[in-house]
Order: sequence, then structure tokens, then C-alpha cells
Amino acid sequence: MSAEGRAGERKSPSADGATAGAPELPATLDEFFDIARERLDPGTFGYYAGGAGAEITLRDNEQAWARLRLRPRMLVDVSRCETSTTVLGEDLAHPVCVAPTAFHRLAHPEGEAATAVGAERAAAPFCLSTLATARPREVAAAAPAGRRWFQVYVFRDRGVTRALCEEAAESGFRALFLTVDVPFFGRRERDLRSGFALPAIDVPSLAAAVGEPGASLDMRAIGELLDASLTWRDVEELVGTSDLPVVVKGVLTAEDARRAVASGAAAVVVSNHGGRQLDGVRASADALPEVVEEVGDEVDVLVDGGIRRGTDVLKALALGARAVLVGRPVLWGLATAGTAGVERVLRLLVDDFALSLALCGVPRARDLDRSVLERPPRGPSVSSVDGSL
Ligand code: FNR
Ligand code: LAC
Repeated sequence: MSAEGRAGERKSPSADGATAGAPELPATLDEFFDIARERLDPGTFGYYAGGAGAEITLRDNEQAWARLRLRPRMLVDVSRCETSTTVLGEDLAHPVCVAPTAFHRLAHPEGEAATAVGAERAAAPFCLSTLATARPREVAAAAPAGRRWFQVYVFRDRGVTRALCEEAAESGFRALFLTVDVPFFGRRERDLRSGFALPAIDVPSLAAAVGEPGASLDMRAIGELLDASLTWRDVEELVGTSDLPVVVKGVLTAEDARRAVASGAAAVVVSNHGGRQLDGVRASADALPEVVEEVGDEVDVLVDGGIRRGTDVLKALALGARAVLVGRPVLWGLATAGTAGVERVLRLLVDDFALSLALCGVPRARDLDRSVLERPPRGPSVSSVDGSL
């Protein structure tokens, strides 16, 4: 792992790692955001950046990681820091993974293929969205050595979903991430204001579901193609019919995490869809502890939403997550510089995570636990005890 040992050399990871050989690329995620905002079509930018309703949850996702305070230990030998983790029984060089996000060709002409190559170079698993602008087999061909997962939306036309899952399995995807928080898309006011609708780009899953390629659809029309009658029975059925492990993405409560495990899920992702679905739900950082407490001994718990810094990754693992998924920053990297931008965004996060481990006095990511957190949270009450809500 490239991040290993770096802290011991007493160099700033961003000075010798992520920035090496590509001095023109930004050194912070905020700069990627600024460049992407300038470059992207305003409607696309609003679709990517926005959340549902008043965007309370969107904001809270980032703030909740920031609210957690750290308790570093000193004079621990951190000359070598080990960032590796395990997800679904497989070793990962580090815990930073690419969340499934739709329509990458809106950000860059090479779309998901470019993202997958960037992820492969940064040793980050890439989760391909059902609503991708590339087929699973195209992504596999572009980044054959990368670890890939396939995110599942269940269309009313189950045949479309089945065919996509089969193609993913045949193309070396290692898990199905079934997203359970989208019976309908949330009410995203930025999109309503901009009139955001998909331009004429090829989205293979939609072409199959609509029965014709290139139809211009808004998010509401796309949502109507999805099956809002989905229940835990469907999770059991997918588990029963798939050779791949099924990961349930989008749980926010201990109850649903328990249902997911009872339905055969191999892992769960604590997520509120980046604040894009039900506005006013808890930040994912605030939901994580109760899910870990309920099922963390039985399955892997992953988390996404508002992960923007190495310390956010560290806090997620300290709360019991095995790995994190990163959504929007990867899109900003893709929009800024295609493959190189994606790789850089991911490396910045990984290097910052490695440095955070060192500064926290925890040389092995696997040893992180709540003792590094200032006030070990017990469920949702912590934020109000803080007085920070
Ligand atoms: C998403 N997300 C998402 N999730 C999913 O399961 N399938 C999808 O197709 C998409 N599409 C999508 C598009 C865009 C533009 C965004 C921003 C998000 C949700 C995504 O997987 C993840 O849960 C969040 O993005 C995580 O939050 P951050 O990292 O963006 O704050
Ligand atoms: C979104 C979908 C595609 O959040 O998941 O826009």
C-alpha cells in the first residue's frame, strides 16, 4: 500500500504521494469542487451537488463527522501505518471505496470507464450504478484488475434487472449492492428549479426498461420505472437467486439492519443516499453506532455520506465501519480531470487517512475503536447532549 511508511518519513503525504507527477491537479477536495462547479452544466451540477427538500440531511452528513472529536495517543511507533481492511471476506488496501452514482457521462465523455480506471489505480473498489452510462461488461473491460461491485435498482420490469445482474456477475463484479431507500426519488428542489432532465445520453438500463434508447427523461419519469412495491421478501429472493453476496445499501436503523441480516444480506451500508431522499433523517455518522451495535458482530457495516477527509474515514472506522463509500467528490474529480482526477481524489483521501492514523497514534486501521473518539456516541442522543444541534 503506497500510504505505508509515509508518515515515518515525516513527509506530508500530499507532498510526496497524491501530487507526485501531476502538479497541475488540485491538492484539496474543495478545489476539485470549485473547478467542477465552474465546468459542469449548471443543471448537472445541481443534480450532483443537491439534496432533497431543505437539504438539512445533506448538510448534516458532513457536519456530523466534524462534530466528532478525537483523542489521539502520543509516542506510539507510527513509522509504518497500515491502512488495510476487510470487506466481504476480501482484503482491501484501504477502506476508501467509490459509491454508486448515476450518469457519469454527464461529468466526462469517458464516463464510468474513466472512473473505474481511476479507482483501479487508487486500489479503491468501484461500485457501478444501475443508472450508469456504461454497461457492466464495458467497465470490466476498461479496468479489468479493479475490484468492482454492482448497485441494483429493481425495475418494474424484473427481466431488465435480472439481465443486468447476470451481466455483472459474468463480468467479474463481486457483490450486488441493493439500494433500498429509493421507492421513489426524493424531491430535489435544485432539479425542480433547473428543470433537470437527462440529455440524450445512452443509459443502457433505461433504454432496456423504456424499450427505446435515448429518451429524454426527468428523475420523476425514471423513478416511475422502478418498483416501489419492493419489500424484504425481494431481498430474500435476490439473496436466494444470486451467486454473489448481496449488500443492502440505505439502512438507517438497527431494526432495518436486523431485517437485512435476517434476509440474508452479507453486509449493510448505513446511508441516507447523500441526503437526496428523505430530508430530515439522521446523518449517517449518527446512525452508524446503533447499526454497528445491532449487527456489527455478524456482517460488515459500511457507511457513506459526507466523507470528505481522512479524519472522517478514521472516525467511521472508529465507530465500527469496515469501509466508507465516497460519492460526490469522485464526481468532482471526474469532471475536473477524468481518470486522473478520480485517482487523485481517492489518493488524497487515502493519504490523509494514513496521516490521520499516524497522528492519532493508531498504526493499524484494524485497531481503530471508539477509544479514539472524545465521547463515544451511544445512538442519536449524543448530538443533542453536545448542544450542537
Ligand atoms: C447518488 N447515489 C446513488 N446511490 C445508488 O445506490 N445508486 C445511484 O445510482 C446513485 N446515484 C447518485 C447520483 C448522485 C449524483 C449522487 C450525489 C448520489 C448515492 C450514493 O451512492 C451515496 O449514497 C452518496 O452519494 C454518499 O454521499 P456523498 O459521499 O455524496 O456525500
Ligand atoms: C440519485 C439516484 C440516481 O440519487 O440514485 O439521483
